[in-house]
Amino acid sequence: MKSSISKLLVLAFMIAVLAACGSTNKEGTDSNASEGDKKVLKMATSADFPPFESRDTKGNFEGFDIDLANLVADELGYELKIEDMKFDGLVGALQSNRVDMVLAGMSADEKRKKNVDFSTEYHRSGEMFLTKSDSAIKDLEALKGKVVGVQLGTIQEEGADELSEQYGFEVKKVDNAGILIQEINSNRIDVAYMDKEVATGYMEEQGLIGFDDPTTSSPGMAIAFPKGSELVEDVNGVLEELEASGKIQELRDKWELAE
Ligand code: ARG
Repeated sequence: MKSSISKLLVLAFMIAVLAACGSTNKEGTDSNASEGDKKVLKMATSADFPPFESRDTKGNFEGFDIDLANLVADELGYELKIEDMKFDGLVGALQSNRVDMVLAGMSADEKRKKNVDFSTEYHRSGEMFLTKSDSAIKDLEALKGKVVGVQLGTIQEEGADELSEQYGFEVKKVDNAGILIQEINSNRIDVAYMDKEVATGYMEEQGLIGFDDPTTSSPGMAIAFPKGSELVEDVNGVLEELEASGKIQELRDKWELAE
């Protein structure tokens, strides 16, 4: 009698152990399954900046930065999720870790480097003043008394603030680069001050004219990350490979970026 009770106890114990093992296994299988799903890479941009980032007629993101981000995510085994925001809010989104990276034609300037980390640079563009085709404004001196539009949070905002004192113009700040073009066309600003690569695209598309800013030598564009992000090294490795294999050059050709 005694021994059959102890046998039963042993049996019950074994069943309990097996059940526990079973449930551990099950959890293990579940977590393996979710590891098998692709990790998500959250990117933010400001899709108002062709040919780097904009939306097609269906509202899908397109441009050099979008293609580049997809290549990088693919290489590193991530699923890319893109969030559109105002350019002015991008650095804050990185600082608060709301997103993992930013591709937005963002110049890797020293001030931003205090708050975010940058990859190696992938493109360099100068600055340009853009105006209507019948405008008499053809150099910095002619800006006296005029209204110059810039996008908030850009290095051009800062540049225009500095130049405005010397050349005597007023600076109007808007939060979307596309609005600058509307502002020119509706005579609410005389000139827009922006990245040359983007400005030349608008010149062709909208029949505008422009002149280079001879005073600037802005830093190249790079991918931005939260400070200390481990992604920087991985992404730099991928950028190097994509450059060596000619894939980045293919994208430059596709989006007709100047060298
Ligand atoms: N390159 C300039 C900067 O870093 C302007 C970038 C604006 N980008 C945009 N997606 N609107 O400040």
